[in-house]
Formats: sequence, C-alpha cells, structure tokens
Amino acid sequence: MEYRIQQIQPFFDDQETRNLEKAIKTGWVTEGPFAQEFLSLLKEFTGARYAVLANNGTLGLYLALLSVGVKDGDEVIVPDFTFNASASSIAFTGAEPVFTDINKNDLQIDTSRIERLITSHTKAIMPVHIYGQSCDMDPIVELARKYKIRIVEDAAQGFGVFYKGRHTGTIGDVGVISFFADKTITTGEGAVILTNDEAIYNKLKMLRNQGRPNSGTFIHPELGMNFRMTDLQCAVGVAQFKKFEQIREIKSRNFNRYRDTLSGIPGLEFVHVNDFTNFIPFRVNVRVPDVEGLIEHLERNAIQTRRMFYPLHRQPCFSFLNYDDAEFPASIDAYNRGISFPVHCRLNDNDIDYLCTQVKAFYNK
Ligand SMILES: Cc1ncc(COP(=O)(O)O)c(C=O)c1O
Repeated sequence: MEYRIQQIQPFFDDQETRNLEKAIKTGWVTEGPFAQEFLSLLKEFTGARYAVLANNGTLGLYLALLSVGVKDGDEVIVPDFTFNASASSIAFTGAEPVFTDINKNDLQIDTSRIERLITSHTKAIMPVHIYGQSCDMDPIVELARKYKIRIVEDAAQGFGVFYKGRHTGTIGDVGVISFFADKTITTGEGAVILTNDEAIYNKLKMLRNQGRPNSGTFIHPELGMNFRMTDLQCAVGVAQFKKFEQIREIKSRNFNRYRDTLSGIPGLEFVHVNDFTNFIPFRVNVRVPDVEGLIEHLERNAIQTRRMFYPLHRQPCFSFLNYDDAEFPASIDAYNRGISFPVHCRLNDNDIDYLCTQVKAFYNK
C-alpha cells in the first residue's frame, strides 16, 4: 500500500549528508571524532557525568542492567505498557520481568503499585518514560533508597524530556536513550547510556568494548562484547542533535494543530501531560471509541496507523509468567482504545488537516 501519510519519517537534509561525507573522506568509520563529539554534546545537554554509546536502545538497556549487576534469579519491576524491549532486555540477563500497571490518565508507571511487588529478589526498577513525557521519579527514587534497589531508566523515547529540570535517564543509577528511526533525533539505530556513577561507567566501558577499557589493546581484563556504534552513525547524530530545537518546534506545532482540530470529538481523549515534565511530542496518542473501525477507515484512506502497545503480560513470549488481566486495567484500556497519529517533521498542515478530516468523517457517519 502506498501511504499518503506515513507514521514515521526522519528529518534529514544536507547537514547529515555533509557530516557523512566528512566521516567517509577522513576514513573514520568505526568510533572516532564524530563519536567523541556526539558523546560530548549528549553529556553537556543531559547533564550526565558519564556516557557511553551503544548500538541500539534494546542492547543499551541490556548493558545498563548488566552494569548494575542484574543477573539470573533477580527480579526487575517494569511497567506492563511499554515496548517489548524493556522486558526482553531484562529476560536476556536471566532475571524475571515483574509487570506493573500504569496510570490511566498519563500512561506512565503507577508508582503507588510498585512497593507491594518488591521481594527479596528485586534487584531493580525500570521506569519507562513514555510518549514524550517523564514518569514521576521522586516516589521511585524513594523506594529504591528504602529497599536498596537500583533504578535503570528506559528513556528510549526521552531525548529532550526533563523531570523537574533533570534529563530523563540521569535520575536513576543508569539510563538509556534510543536513536532509532522514530525517535526525536535519530541515527537509524543507536543509543546512549547515561550515568553519574563512576563504577557503573567503568563497568559499561568494559562490557561494551570486548572487556577492555579502550580499543587499541589485545589485553582483555574482563569478558565483554561489541556494542559499539560507527562514526557514520555518529556523524548523522551530531547533525540531528544540532537540529533538536527545530524538531521540537515543528513537532509541537503539529501536535497543537491536531489538538485544536480533534478536541470536541465525543469520546476522543488526549493523554494527560503532568506539570513535573516538559513534553516533546513523540506521536499524537489518543484514546477513541471503536479503534479498530477507525484504523480500517484511515488505512483505506492511505493513512498509516499504529495502535498503542500490546500489554506485556499478554505477550505470547511472556505467557509463561501466567499473569491475570485483572491486575492491569489501565494497560488493557490503553491498548483497547489507543491509537497513535504521526507527528513527525515531514508533515505539513494539509497532511494534518486531511488526517483530522478523515477522523471526523469516521465519527460523523
Ligand atoms: C520504550 C522503549 N524501550 C526500548 C526501545 C528499544 O530501542 P531500540 O529500538 O533502539 O532498540 C524502544 C524503541 O524502539 C522504546 O520505545
């Protein structure tokens, strides 16, 4: 199907091409000058004391979990409503993901439910900052201190998102931001892992680069693997980073146009945004009546659509954990009624008006 409106489109222009050409001409294709520049920009922007790159957000989360010692037999508490990688990265360490429900209004982890899930096996909590805003970190930090457990933040969607002035991914022990194609800034695949803890940083450096602190030696004090990025990706990352303000502005303008046009449709609800966070639109996430009918209608009119996340406790790959639907009313409701409209920088006003007209036509029929 040829879509008139696609769900995601990167915002590339000459700046990415120029940086790529420079990387190729200088001959640096593995981590080199652009990787160093990208890391410095990211550290300065997020305020993290330490940062390492990883080849994507999923493996970044896996590394982050390993760096705080999560292992076979441990439990890690994670929201039921997130991309599958939050939980699969936990499962690949040998630990068990323990699912918890979200708030109905903002779709972030429901912090009031976490404490009752903490056991003697709980090693970490993984809050996930979802859909362009932060979750409420203070109660999570308090619990982590009380029970001496770690916080591994999944800030895959959180680039540019600050909680009470602190960048997501820098509030817990360690955090991960993804640069996948649909993220606020993208390198195609890629991620950064942030921490303020020197011991975690040293562990991350070893794990990501063949068990040695730096390249250029064949002596490997520890076991590690290869989670590096390339300078070609970082060349794109540097160009994207420098366009962040422009990206934020365009996405916010797009989001506001949707909100102004769609408000008033009976039963259509936008996700609540909290005062403790800024908001960088990731998609236009709304809950609607008859989500399946609407998707069918939009697809028929050449608009690519996405439902919201499928609850993790229902995922076939986690069925062995035997959860009961009754524990996850908000996550199930988000899936049953949730739809995401595109908000990317390649949309123009006509595209948004066309999509909104189609939504209105569906509900007026
Ligand atoms: C919440 C969340 N966690 C983890 C990931 C995994 O990141 P990546 O696609 O870079 O592996 C993503 C996105 O793709 C995500 O949205």
